[in-house]
Amino acid sequence: MMKRQFPNLCKPITLGRTTFPNRMFSAPMGGTDITNDGCIGPKSTAFYELRAKGGAGAVTVSELMVDPNTDGSHGYHLDESILNSLAAAAYTADAIRRHGAIPSLELSHSGMYAGTYMTDKRKQKSMNQWGPSDTVRLDGVKVKALTKEMIDHIVASYGYAAALAKRAGFEMLMIHGGHGWLINQFLSPYFNKRTDEYGGSLENRTRFAIEVLKSVREAVGPFFPLEFRLSGSELFEGGYDLEEGCRIARQIEPYIDLLHVSAGTYQRGFGDTHPSMFKDHGCNVYLAEEIKKHVSVPVATIGALNSPEQMEEIIASGKADVVYMARALLADPNLPRKVTENREHEIVKCLRCFTCMAERAVTATRRCTVNPLIGREIEGDEVAPAPVKKKVLVAGGGPGGLYAAYTAARRGHHVILCEKEAEVGGILKGEQAFPFKREMYELAETYKVLAQKAGVEIRLNTEVTKEYAMKENADALIIAVGSVPLVPPIPGLKADHVVVVNNYYLEKDKIGDDVVVLGGGLAGCECAIHLGMNGKNVHLVEMRDELAVDANVRHRPLLLNEINKYVTVHTGYKGLEVSADGVYCQDKNGKKQFVPGTSVICALGQRSRTDVVAELQDAALFVRVIGDAAKVSTITNAVYWGYHGALDIDAGGV
Ligand SMILES: Cc1cc2nc3c(=O)[nH]c(=O)nc-3n(C[C@H](O)[C@H](O)[C@H](O)COP(=O)(O)O)c2cc1C
Repeated sequence: MMKRQFPNLCKPITLGRTTFPNRMFSAPMGGTDITNDGCIGPKSTAFYELRAKGGAGAVTVSELMVDPNTDGSHGYHLDESILNSLAAAAYTADAIRRHGAIPSLELSHSGMYAGTYMTDKRKQKSMNQWGPSDTVRLDGVKVKALTKEMIDHIVASYGYAAALAKRAGFEMLMIHGGHGWLINQFLSPYFNKRTDEYGGSLENRTRFAIEVLKSVREAVGPFFPLEFRLSGSELFEGGYDLEEGCRIARQIEPYIDLLHVSAGTYQRGFGDTHPSMFKDHGCNVYLAEEIKKHVSVPVATIGALNSPEQMEEIIASGKADVVYMARALLADPNLPRKVTENREHEIVKCLRCFTCMAERAVTATRRCTVNPLIGREIEGDEVAPAPVKKKVLVAGGGPGGLYAAYTAARRGHHVILCEKEAEVGGILKGEQAFPFKREMYELAETYKVLAQKAGVEIRLNTEVTKEYAMKENADALIIAVGSVPLVPPIPGLKADHVVVVNNYYLEKDKIGDDVVVLGGGLAGCECAIHLGMNGKNVHLVEMRDELAVDANVRHRPLLLNEINKYVTVHTGYKGLEVSADGVYCQDKNGKKQFVPGTSVICALGQRSRTDVVAELQDAALFVRVIGDAAKVSTITNAVYWGYHGALDIDAGGV
């Protein structure tokens, strides 16, 4: 047998009396597709099943709300009084277990942030909110302190839900004690101002957590693995720090089998709990590493982990015993399998673009930029062989074209992908200049590896003209020729000291110390941040009143935070003329303003290559235009449309 490249990640671990097949666990990821009466919908079951099939050692089903009376009623519940509640849970546990993974269920209570995931925010704000103490939230919502009777009831609810979860077939439970939810609110000196036995000293603040754990333990028996999810540090002024996190861990450890060390809080440190692209991979591992020195139970770590090498090192060096991943397994549910089978070059890496969390918040759907099947696993994860094999020509090697080619080849078609440049990647080539977007650049390379493995022939330096396509005589043509930068007729914009943002990676050396970035959309903002991080003096000019309106609701605040650190912003400024030492603009009052800078970045948007699309429209009988060539939009759409374009080639009967 070939030697395993990542032996530590692949090593089984026994918790309680349950043996988990490896150390790569799937973290809880959002209760989407919950039915109106609080059951796990069939789509979610399929979602979890695919994480299990993908090889994770454990798959955690997200956030069971233990007490709907005091928590948002929007979420997932497990309750005998709800018809089919136990059945839905049992089907889900079974769907995970039958692929060899251990099904785990997260038990939670949101406390003073009940109803966070409701899309109707007005309703959420009008709900009663219950926390450790009377207070008013930052958003003005009043919170009432839980009474002792209510605490007793919630503690009992944990036990009730735990017993049902075990009966349904779950073989581990994760008690959510982190991220700012109710148990965390009790642990926190910031949220917990009680003067009774649940507040004040650390012993008192951990009392609620321990009562919950005892209640759950009583319900599930002595050998059933219990996991506690703890934020190792709350990471905000006034919250508990790592030193206190270690002491909390010591209090909790007698009652658990695995201590899961996460970080921060959902409401006050979203970018810590879900590390953004501006942070290092594994930036929270230090919390687990330190806590592990103070406890004897196994410890798990999490946070922007997706590299097998890094995760292997974490286990090998004893920083943690288990690694958890959330977003990495949205991007590629097969990551654990690829690790165990030494296929690490085939892992499609998470971009940390936050499409997943933004779509969850806004539309309550599951979405992932790089995985078109997310949230729709129920439609089948197998790409079935096509009944009739066809010849497929793909014009353009950006992410959409590559994904279309890969999918068509997996179906058994004969696929040729032509790229007019010397390297695939299309617009993603430009991302190589920005270290925080490394994965976005590497995505094209990974898709290329997958496409070639599936049998795609890639022809570089080859432009598909109508003549070329006619000569190839393909049955199907996917037009994925992308977009070109918009360079409006602003005087001076074509001068030598102006660099179009897409070409920055080629022309970096032309950029001096004082730079004006024209265009404050996502591309302009990210370039401005990068230049600022590199010590340049950066001015950002945007015609609209807001920056990055094209960024999603999760990425945008974190992006603007970086802008604040590194960039001087001029919104409401329209560029009039580029001169050798700056850009003349008009402000909102019609006044002329001068923004200084001896180098200029042009980031004024893209437009579809409609001329090429028109030329190729009749170059095969089946033609599909995808990605930016169809409509300038996101990588998400390019990949989705590419995937479905490829599947549609032989739809419609043969
Ligand atoms: C789409 C999505 C939904 C999530 N939902 C939950 C949840 O329901 N409960 C929870 O404890 N954590 C939830 N998380 C947090 C993750 O479990 C994890 O702690 C976090 O994403 C950091 O891990 P990562 O960097 O591997 O994504 C969610 C994360 C994502 C991306």
